Amino acid sequence: MKKITIEGNHTLSGEINISGAKNSIVALLPATILADEPVTITNVPNIKDVEATIAILQYLGSEITYQNNTIIIDNKNIQNKEIPDNLANKLRASYYFMGALLSKFKEASISYPGGCPIGKRPIDIHLNSFKKLNIDVSIENNNYHLKTNNIISNTITLAKPSVGATINILLTTAKTKTTTIINNPAKEPEINNLIEFLNKMGTNIIINKDNIIINGSSYLKSTTIQTIPDRIETGTYLIIGALLGNKLKINNINPLVNTALINKLKESNTSMTLTDSSITISKNHFIKPVNITTKEYPGFPTDLQQPFTTYLTQAMGKSTIKETIYENRFQNVKELNKLNSHINIDNNKQITINGPTKLVGNIVNSTDLRGGASLIIAGLIAEGTTTITNIEHILRGYDNIINKLKNVGAKIEIE
Ligand code: EPZ
Repeated sequence: MKKITIEGNHTLSGEINISGAKNSIVALLPATILADEPVTITNVPNIKDVEATIAILQYLGSEITYQNNTIIIDNKNIQNKEIPDNLANKLRASYYFMGALLSKFKEASISYPGGCPIGKRPIDIHLNSFKKLNIDVSIENNNYHLKTNNIISNTITLAKPSVGATINILLTTAKTKTTTIINNPAKEPEINNLIEFLNKMGTNIIINKDNIIINGSSYLKSTTIQTIPDRIETGTYLIIGALLGNKLKINNINPLVNTALINKLKESNTSMTLTDSSITISKNHFIKPVNITTKEYPGFPTDLQQPFTTYLTQAMGKSTIKETIYENRFQNVKELNKLNSHINIDNNKQITINGPTKLVGNIVNSTDLRGGASLIIAGLIAEGTTTITNIEHILRGYDNIINKLKNVGAKIEIE
């Protein structure tokens, strides 16, 4: 198992270029199955989840050219095969192949998706949505088999604004000449990125205030789509800048999608300079405590809750974080407390962070992708050396994180 070693307390200055969004590309890649001609995706992040998704596409027969963060995919020879556990369990988003294969072949078979241990993460909303589209769903020993003679028009009201279910419905219906309405859809920017891709291929999908209307098309043509910047990677580096930055410049971003985090950083007395594609941020020498409640977009993102926890260990007083999306997303707290933070898990929905605490290096274990990021941030500010084990999770979602940090002055190594 790989580990990361960090010598803490070094000022970070220079520029960090943000990569394409993990939670976009894991949907854009399966969506290429819907195209009847070759398609191109640019600004592709170099992360393990992309490798895992490409492996599934190649297993199905995709012809892929991948260089300089650009992927050209020709799916003319793709076949419908059962996606085995060893390919599907590498990432939760493998379930997007359900929608994509249903769209093209009216049938899909895949084992249960993998993903972080941050909660039960059921897919009942996905399955109920498939059923409303006239799709038969059968499950036997962890393998999902979906089949239909024809996908029908319908209106689907989501019990929760699920990102994954919204995307799976888009993938399932985009290639059928039907009209599907999703009420209570998720509104994350990554969904807009997928809709942009599908509309450029030839669908007519309309995003309204409270619903999405999908007018599918049976023929979807060649196009190029740019992966949007990763707003969670952006937020992670902004938090690092607020703790250690000296005019640290974060490039290739859309600041508008990080408003919730930016507002909380400002509320805690961090200042920054924004342009339409970058943010320059420096260390906040007097972090005011703040209270956070995670919410669906555009609220404070659950994926930044764990990195922000580390930031609040340095606040001058008591802060609280309420996690409303997942039921088990505080596993990093135990590890942070090994570094001398003073965080209390009040219940599985709320933690209290007592600051400021001087973090001291130690050996800690990464339990999930964003929890791992919170430990890297802690290592960067701790006195002495911090070793983080089990860091494969982190490499799933942060492109080139070691070199991006080294290039701005961090003393960080991977072994
Ligand atoms: C996406 O997960 C992201 N992953 C997650 O990012 C992110 O935390 C989450 O959206 C919320 O923003 C990808 O996009 C690949 P949901 P997803 O369906 O689609 C419950 C990261 O760190 N739910 O919006 O799985 C679910 O248990 C990852 O990059 C059901 O109950 O999120 C959760 O409590 C972590 N039934 C809530 O809804 C369902 O059928 C939100 O889930 C589906 C979801």
